[in-house]
Order: sequence, then C-alpha cells, then structure tokens
Amino acid sequence: MCGIFGIVSRKDINIGKIALEGIKRLEYRGYDSCGIVTQYDSKLFVKKDAGKIDVIHKKLKLDEFPNESKLALAHTRWATHGAPTKINSHPHLDCNDKIAVIHNGILENFIELREELLSKGHIFKSETDTEIIPHLIEDNLKTNGDLKIAVANAIKKCIGAYGLAICHADYPDTIIAVRRESPLIIGIEDGKTTYCASDIPAFLPYTNKCYILEDDEMAILKAGTVEFYDVNNISVPKQKEIQKIDWSIKAAEKGGYKHFMLKEIYEEPTALRQTMKISNDSLKDFAETLLSAERIYITAAGTSFYAALAGKFIITKFLGKYIQAIECSEFKIELENSLEENSIIIAISQSGETIDLIEAIRWAKESKQRVKVLSITNIVGSTITRHSDKVLITQAGPEIGVAATKTFVTQILAQSLVALEIAKLIRTESNDEIQKYYNALYSTPKVIENFLEKNIDLIKYIVRSLEKNLNFFFLARGISIATAKEGGLKLKEVACRFIEGYSAAHAKHGPISLVREGYPIIFIAPPDNTYERLIGNLMEFKSRGGKIISLVVKEDKKIADLSDITIRIPQPGDKYHTLFSPITFIPALQLLAYYAALEHNLDPDKPLNLAKTVTVH
Ligand code: AGP
Repeated sequence: MCGIFGIVSRKDINIGKIALEGIKRLEYRGYDSCGIVTQYDSKLFVKKDAGKIDVIHKKLKLDEFPNESKLALAHTRWATHGAPTKINSHPHLDCNDKIAVIHNGILENFIELREELLSKGHIFKSETDTEIIPHLIEDNLKTNGDLKIAVANAIKKCIGAYGLAICHADYPDTIIAVRRESPLIIGIEDGKTTYCASDIPAFLPYTNKCYILEDDEMAILKAGTVEFYDVNNISVPKQKEIQKIDWSIKAAEKGGYKHFMLKEIYEEPTALRQTMKISNDSLKDFAETLLSAERIYITAAGTSFYAALAGKFIITKFLGKYIQAIECSEFKIELENSLEENSIIIAISQSGETIDLIEAIRWAKESKQRVKVLSITNIVGSTITRHSDKVLITQAGPEIGVAATKTFVTQILAQSLVALEIAKLIRTESNDEIQKYYNALYSTPKVIENFLEKNIDLIKYIVRSLEKNLNFFFLARGISIATAKEGGLKLKEVACRFIEGYSAAHAKHGPISLVREGYPIIFIAPPDNTYERLIGNLMEFKSRGGKIISLVVKEDKKIADLSDITIRIPQPGDKYHTLFSPITFIPALQLLAYYAALEHNLDPDKPLNLAKTVTVH
C-alpha cells in the first residue's frame, strides 16, 4: 500500500533518476499515482500526477530536476483517502511550499485535525489524510524552530498508521523518517548516501546494509549517516543494530522475463530449495511448541490463507490435533468470547505487514489468555516478527509481482517441514516412513522444473480454449481445495475473471446449476483418499455437458480417461508425494492465470485496484 523512497547523498548523481528507479522498484505496492520532490537552494521542486509511473515519466520527465539537488523523496500511491488524481498525489506540502511529506498508511483522526488546522488558517489543496502532516509540522515550527521537535510533536497528534518521509526546503541535507505500523527501512552507504524506503528492493542496487525502523522511532537521515530517536524522547539518540540483507539485486529484477509473475513462477524450484535450508533448531522449536499446545489456530489473508489451509492438513496429519483456520480479518470477531488459555496461533504472511493479521495476533497476545504466536514470513524484521514468539523465515527472495506465487509454495513447504519435525518427535511413523515423506518433499523443486519444461504450450492451448468462458470452477476435495481456491484467486487477480475454487462435493448444492453444454470445470485430482469420490463429482458435471479439464499425476488413468483435456504433473502418485501436491500442482494454475492475463492484454504484475502489501483494514 503506497511505496516510499527517500535519498540524501553527497555523490555526484542524478537524484531524480535514482528516485524514479526507486519508486519503480516499489510500484507493486500501488500504482494509482506517483510523485517526486527534490530540494535545492531553499526551494522544493515537485512533479506528480495520476497514473502509472512510466506514463507520468513520459509526460513530466521525472528524472529531470536541478543538477545540484542531492535530496529527493518519491512516492507511488494506492489511493485510500481521495481519488487517484494529480492533486491527491504525494508529496503534499504545507501552506508555504517549504515542507514536503510522503506517507504510507492511514491517519484515523484526520477529520478532527483538519478542522483544527483550518480554523488556524491553513489552506488544504487535496482530499487526503496525508496533507494534515505538513500543516501540523508547519504549525509546530512556528512555536519552536527545530524541525525534529516539530515533526515529533506533529506525529504525536496523529492516530493511525504511517511510514513518513519528510523534508524541508531550508534543511538542505536532511530527511526525517518516522513510522508506526507501516514499514520503513533505512539503507546506508557509509559516508556517501542514505536511503529510506517501504521495502528493501528499492535501494538494494546501492546497498544491502540497513536498519529496520520500529514503531515510534524517528530517523534523521543525512548524506551517508543516520541518527535514531524515540519519538517520545528525542533529546537522546538511540543505538540500533545494522542488518545485512543477503538478497541479490538480480532477484528483484526481471532478468529477461516479460513479467515478474512469470519470473517468480520459474523461481519456485530455487525458492523451495533455499527454504529447505531453514535450520533444524527453529523447526524443532516450532514443532515442540505445537506439541505442547492445547488449542491451535492458523490465520492469514489471501494467498497466505490458502497456504495455511494446505499446511493445516499436512501438520494435522502428523500432529493428530485439530487446527482451526480463521481468516485474520475475522479472527478477533470469531474468538472474542472463546479464545482459550495456552492457545497457539500460527500466523502466515509473505510481507509480514498485513494489518489485519498484525491486529489479530496483537489482540490475541494482549488478551488475558497466555497465547503464543508462531509466524512464517518472507521478510526479516517485518512487523509480524516483532509480535511473534517464534519465527520461520521462508527464503523465497524478493517477490515483486503483486500476485503471490513463489511465496505460496515456500509457505506450504515451511509448514511441511514443521509437520515432519513433529513426526520425528512423536514417532508414530517409523523412521523409514518419515524419510519417504522427506524424499517426496525434497523432490518438489524437480517436479516443478520438469513441469515447467514441457507444459507451457498445453497451458496456452487451454487458455485459448477457455477464452469465451468468463467464469468457471476449479473443483477439488480435501487438501486440494486449498490449491483450487488459490488457483481461483490468481485468475481473479491477474486475469480479471471470476473463476472460483470450490469444494467438488459442495458444488452440487448450488454451483452445478451453472453447467451447460461445454461449460468448463477444472478438477484438481491428486490420487489421495478423496480420489474415488472426486470421480463421482466429476461424473455429475460431465453428465450435464461439462467440459472436463483435469490436473492429475503422471500415471493417472481413471480421471484422465474421463477428461477432455488433462494436465499431468510429473510426479509419482504414492501417498508420500501426493501429500505435498499443493506445492507441485499450483504452478499449472498460476501459469493459467498468467497466460489468461496476457490473452486479455492485462499486466499480470499490476492487477487493477490491488497492492502487494495491505496495510489498511
Ligand atoms: C496474493 O496474490 C494477493 N496479492 C493477496 O491475497 C495476499 O496474499 C494477501 O494480501 C496477504 O498478504 P501477505 O501474505 O503479505 O500477508
């Protein structure tokens, strides 16, 4: 939700160009409008407009600012308060065009603050909540001349979520960054340049050394140095530990692929192999905690929730305890009167910043019950990690495509590794059996590689054959309902088609009435203990004229024989491999969504109305 990039440098660089490249790398966070402000000679230079960055750049030349300028703030917006128009684009300025602010988040008390400021004579140009902030700072500067104090006083009046970067025309070498609930990372090239950004890839081409700003911390960025303060005690600087990020910039670039989404699907084997390296100690720690729990919940949003649905099946198989899956936005409402003592929550999030998830786990931890949170995320130092008792970091690398792909498979893998660790601890299965499950799990990258090598033409053919069908179903039973739901979500997101992942058994209680001659239904059919029943469901649709497309394992015969088109996943159909089928089957559906988006001339990396990190309720 909105991307922030700030840079202050002593190097001889084109500051506009770097700011432009910075927000390009953050465009997955929102692309309704964008803007850049640079500062030179006690003046601010602003260019902003509504639309995607490339279009605005063509129009406004976002890389052309005064050569001498060494400080810039840049913003790419996902609109909340105020339509995506030029006037509502960031940066926002004060009455005298001296203070510029870019913001990611939402101020909840902006109406009251706006009225207060209007009564003092401030003039507002936009409908945004953000515009409050430069005016609040302006107001505070009148009573004390110190920018740092004015910013601290201003934000103390704000209720809500914010990652903010602020500059002032009369402070030639200073950016002030401050956060609450919205991510903000400070990158540093010692003695030369300092950056702030909503996400690491924005400055990754220049440095992998960074500080992760915590809630209510303020950073004062100068060229090549940074000081940190607690917003509530800004007289004494505080020490923070620098972190080294081991992502390579190549991972955050398209590298010859047309889109990030396609590249990230092809990166799934590597992402899985990297995630297999999660340390045994952390897996054991997770497993022991789950074994000690009286009650276990699993919660997440979107794709991460579907990964949770798959993971819940796999963990339960070995743990032998029920795990209740609840969407994070409903977590508090569902459990308000029934959260039990000694409960464990497994929280899953690619970004680690989804606000509904953070709110759910914060609520649970602050309750009287002694609840522990085990989280799985792809982002080191993200907000979720600070609210968790134990954390597993998936190693998918940066995921830039708004539609989650490689993080989905790594989230299921991480849960599977925990499940097998549980199996080792409770010893209800023999070592030999457990090893067979491990072997199957370790073979998942190869299965995906083999699939990607040989099936692209088939997927493109299916996309073309489905061209006229604006809606259809992915049907499945058991664990594969998670795969079906995730496949449906991908098609909705990137191809703008209402394709629903649904229970094959439940479909006859309503959705079957949509079926006419030639109506397509895609069955997700790994040979698990639901297979025979799924054949029955398939026949219910086939006998009504449904066109059956099936996703099966390589040696499948029964369902393949009943299907009009078959996609074969090159894996054995034994129970070991079948358990992990959500990992190996999903690439087919992700590719279906990707090519369907291309067929409709849509940009799969930037689905309409979406943003990668959802930091609003
Ligand atoms: C995935 O393709 C979506 N963009 C979205 O549903 C996403 O999975 C959801 O917002 C959760 O995000 P998180 O994993 O970062 O918490």
